[in-house]
Amino acid sequence: MTRPIPLLSTLLLVVACSTHRSPSSRLEAELAGAYPVEASPTGVIRDFAITAAPGERDPLTPGAPPLAVWSYNGTTPGPTLRVRLGETVRVTFSNHLPDETTIHWHGVRVPNGMDGVPHATQPPVPPGGTFVYEFTPKDAGTFWFHPHVRSSEQVERGLYGVLIVEDADPPPYSQDVVWVIDDWLLGADRQLDPRFNTPHDMMHDGRWGNVVTVNGRTDETLAVRAGERIRLRLLNASNGRVYVPDLAALGDGARLIAVDGMYLRAPIPPGRFELAPGNRIDLDLTFAPGERREIPVRDTFTRTPQPLATILVDGVAPPALAFPSPAHAVVPLWADALATPVTHELRLNARRGGPFGLEWTVNDVAFAGHSHDSHDHASFHLPRGRFAHLRFTNQSARLHPIHLHGMFFKVLARNGTPVDEGYFRDTVLVHSKETVDIGLVPVDAGSWMLHCHILEHAEAGMMTMISVE
Ligand code: C2O
Ligand code: CU
Repeated sequence: MTRPIPLLSTLLLVVACSTHRSPSSRLEAELAGAYPVEASPTGVIRDFAITAAPGERDPLTPGAPPLAVWSYNGTTPGPTLRVRLGETVRVTFSNHLPDETTIHWHGVRVPNGMDGVPHATQPPVPPGGTFVYEFTPKDAGTFWFHPHVRSSEQVERGLYGVLIVEDADPPPYSQDVVWVIDDWLLGADRQLDPRFNTPHDMMHDGRWGNVVTVNGRTDETLAVRAGERIRLRLLNASNGRVYVPDLAALGDGARLIAVDGMYLRAPIPPGRFELAPGNRIDLDLTFAPGERREIPVRDTFTRTPQPLATILVDGVAPPALAFPSPAHAVVPLWADALATPVTHELRLNARRGGPFGLEWTVNDVAFAGHSHDSHDHASFHLPRGRFAHLRFTNQSARLHPIHLHGMFFKVLARNGTPVDEGYFRDTVLVHSKETVDIGLVPVDAGSWMLHCHILEHAEAGMMTMISVE
């Protein structure tokens, strides 16, 4: 056999390249047509004003005095902002708190300068200061917003609200309802325990409350009629508590249609979903006719089931319009993604030291939060548009719901066992000693935070920055 002529070898090379692309470019291609599906701006600007201020609200438990909180626009939860996909959100924010603050738009793909990370993407808003947040959400879904300065205290005091981005042409649900779940740690005086970031919070899974509320109430009830088609959005705004709502109680008409704001590949029975701090799920619900009945929805994460809220089914609605569930997103399978080399491993652990006596670390570094040079803390870079395989290795015995700003990811494996969840997330619960592999393709340039959404762990160092360029 003689050496092939140069032209032939070039041809062979071209053929080889087109049939045998690198695993990474194949994975990127699989994503094409899925995330990122970016809405084009319609030019409509939706103006909102949000003021953060100390105030009082109704007590959470009967007979208690009014509860002193910090809130957005005077309510806890704060306002639910609703816009349509393609509209521009403009929020004029005023800080009437005795502390500096910012607003972070959790799960929303915003320009980096609107992400609300103090010192990194904007200077914190001082007491008496204002800031205008403006962005056009790229995805329809359930999002939320909260401060990113001393979050373990500011969120616990009541600062959080909901941002719903409706589809450009929303499906005709008869009700579209949000349940914001939070827990509050009250002292003997029935006021918020003023001790934040305690050694106990730090050594465990953050601050867990002794009163659980849905939409700020201990007796939230959703009244429905049989035959109605309901979209129910659940959001965990707690500092540290994880919920596993007993969704089986909702019956056979319940389907999971979105996670962390993003639609599923196809609707699925909701099953057991760990709603960690930061997570959202959207459900598509119908209820069969029958007797008037009350369906208690309980949390089953801990050994003692906690009542969350109640659904009251009473009466029959006129026959609803049949329409397909909006859960038909293109979510790549990424079947061979697990075999790609790990781009970055992030080891999650704790050690003695730091301002709270215990530091939470990512690769042995405790984030020096709120220092003026935190933009220098990028732990690694990710090239735009390239598939990346990250591995979270939890070396500690505690929970770490890891949240990534500015992008969505897909869980590839837990403890090395492949999983196909059929949806993207922005927050994944990493259990004690567990290893979770994720895949993602970052598309937006900037410095994006990766941190534990147990806010006390984040405060004590479990935060890092990823720069995408
Ligand atoms: Cu909801 Cu950086 O967080
Ligand atoms: Cu953690």
